[in-house]
Amino acid sequence: MEAKIIEIKNKALSELENINNLKELEEFKNTYLSRSSELTNLKKGMKDVSPEDRPKIGSLLNEVSRELENLAFQKYELFYAKELNEKLNAEIIDVTLPSTFIPRGKVHPLTQTVNEIVEIFEHLGFSITEAKNSPEVEVEKYNFDLLNFPPEHPAKDMQDTFYTEVGKNVVLRSQTSNAQVRTMEHTNPPIKVISPGRVYRSENVSARKNDLFHQIEGLYVDKGVKFSHLKGVLNEFIRLYFGASRPIRFRSSYFPFTEPSVEIDVQCIMCGGKGCPTCSGTGWLEVLGAGMVDPNVLKGVDIDPDVYSGFAFGMGVERLTMLKYAIDDIRLFFNNDVRFLKQF
Ligand code: DAH
Repeated sequence: MEAKIIEIKNKALSELENINNLKELEEFKNTYLSRSSELTNLKKGMKDVSPEDRPKIGSLLNEVSRELENLAFQKYELFYAKELNEKLNAEIIDVTLPSTFIPRGKVHPLTQTVNEIVEIFEHLGFSITEAKNSPEVEVEKYNFDLLNFPPEHPAKDMQDTFYTEVGKNVVLRSQTSNAQVRTMEHTNPPIKVISPGRVYRSENVSARKNDLFHQIEGLYVDKGVKFSHLKGVLNEFIRLYFGASRPIRFRSSYFPFTEPSVEIDVQCIMCGGKGCPTCSGTGWLEVLGAGMVDPNVLKGVDIDPDVYSGFAFGMGVERLTMLKYAIDDIRLFFNNDVRFLKQF
């Protein structure tokens, strides 16, 4: 029996020598150290060994098992560390390698301006009117008539406004002011809305004019709305949009749907008010139109002008963007040249 144990041990030791990885080691453990191994079988046969030989054989068996277990464990530690290392090396990430270039789009500068202005007016308590109140294809009634334009007004001329063949009197709206009357028609005061959108005018396209551009309309109707409210809100808007440092002025003007009407100018960003070609020598640039809603307009949408009053305003998005960033050609917004767009 003793000789058998030694034989197993020597065989195991020589096999262990040649083991090179965890998988082979697992097989070795199954053969020599598992419950069905030869050594375990020999342990089970101890009852047949004569009592005087038993202690010697027993301790030899234990000794051999322990020795093989220890050696196997040492191998295990070695191979485990080695294989882990190999795995980590194979999976290594070189953070210094250049990555795949994925070009990223950006929000168009006009959309950026709209977002910025909408945010300012939301901060002042306005919300965006529903889309159904602001159609781009519009009937003359909402684009002109209910806004108190007299029938012979020059803006209604085909040379200024695009007429469509969709139906009689159907135009591409020439101003977002249609949103005013449509909102009032569907809503009871108090009304405090803005409405950004596209407008169309039949223009000779130039550095200053495009036949498609964007406006943001505003309307506030409630009991007791006064001109001082208009001044307060628009002063605050200009201050937030251009920064506190830019002087502005209110200048009296005319629009069919407001009375009195004003235009707001900001000091020219090119010359700081000294006068230059951009501001035609005046030192001022017009940025928006506004006024108290004409009682005729309120009557037209069944709002009693003796009870309610309001103010309205409208501004050009391209113009406001050009003034803020000193852009001198409106066509840049529509050419989609990425060298221009990338700068925003
Ligand atoms: N709709 C005018 C335009 O396109 C701008 C405007 C002026 C809008 C005065 C208003 C306003 O709401 O009160 O020139």
